[in-house]
Amino acid sequence: MKTKITEMLNIEHPIVQGGMHYVGFAEMAAAVSNAGGLGIITGLTQPSAADLANEIARCKDMTDKPFGVNITFLPVVNAPDYPGMMDAIIKGGVTVVETAGNNPSQWLPMLKDAGIKVIHKCTSVRHSLKAQSIGCDAVSVDGFECGGHPGEDDIPNMILLPRAAEELEIPFIASGGMGNAQQLVAALAMGAEGINMGTRFIATKEAPVHENVKQAILAASELDTRLIMRPLRNTERVLNNDAVERLLQKEKELGDDISFMDIAEEVAGVYPRIMTEGDMDAGGWSCGMVAGLIHDIPTCQELIDRIMTEADEIISSRLAKFAS
Ligand SMILES: Cc1cc2nc3c(=O)[nH]c(=O)nc-3n(C[C@H](O)[C@H](O)[C@H](O)COP(=O)(O)O)c2cc1C
Repeated sequence: MKTKITEMLNIEHPIVQGGMHYVGFAEMAAAVSNAGGLGIITGLTQPSAADLANEIARCKDMTDKPFGVNITFLPVVNAPDYPGMMDAIIKGGVTVVETAGNNPSQWLPMLKDAGIKVIHKCTSVRHSLKAQSIGCDAVSVDGFECGGHPGEDDIPNMILLPRAAEELEIPFIASGGMGNAQQLVAALAMGAEGINMGTRFIATKEAPVHENVKQAILAASELDTRLIMRPLRNTERVLNNDAVERLLQKEKELGDDISFMDIAEEVAGVYPRIMTEGDMDAGGWSCGMVAGLIHDIPTCQELIDRIMTEADEIISSRLAKFAS
């Protein structure tokens, strides 16, 4: 399938794997790219710019296809080494960068000079328009269903995507809640040029995470995610577990007086314990409502092939029937 996004990113299928903390290692990105999508390494999971350079080199050893790097701008006092990471991306010959979390304008000139396509991930039409105005090549529009940070507007993709289509001139990718062919076709119908999947790619054979994480996603229904950190205006959709229930109880009791330190035990530094060690109650970890639609652990190739084959069938058979 050819879309503006497959053309822009030089990929076979309009399916992108969003950056994911402690999931987006070279193995994940290479598996998605080898299957014809766009895999993405998560920059901030690497402890330093030199480690990121090494991760990019490892990915290049595993695939000849294009892949990207996610750079998330965090609301922290001691910023990570963003200049060093951008340097590693450019010197590593990466062709796509996914930015998220904050306005990437400071980095656009150097990325564009290096011929890199920038996809900014946004949770609102207003931020998407801003990304377009500063020169981003595309946006990933992340609806309320998404795993991770859905922002504070709570607009689901059934509204957000057609709203993005009304306003945007640059191509956009539908992100949040995506996991199957029906959703790809629906996203295309609503104006998107492709889909971005996070949670769905964790439940694949190649995802370099503990088996417990994959089984937790399989066991979860669409009712099992919770929104945490809303009082801090840093809302995150996570899979429910003991730590999340404890955290939500603190939010209830402390109300507006809550600070990050009150919940640090449930969220700070928990990813390695969950993703690597499989300690599923160690803290809150991002997971989308799409968990309710995930029932197997295929390879990335099987997953992407299935989505593309079924999308073709839906378009040429089910939808064609309705055209007069
Ligand atoms: C475990 C996990 C970790 C994530 N970490 C990041 C991250 O570090 N940076 C980022 O921009 N997005 C992150 N995301 C969001 C994804 O890139 C993607 O936008 C989101 O998962 C899409 O929603 P879905 O999970 O419903 O597919 C994360 C998502 C998950 C599930």
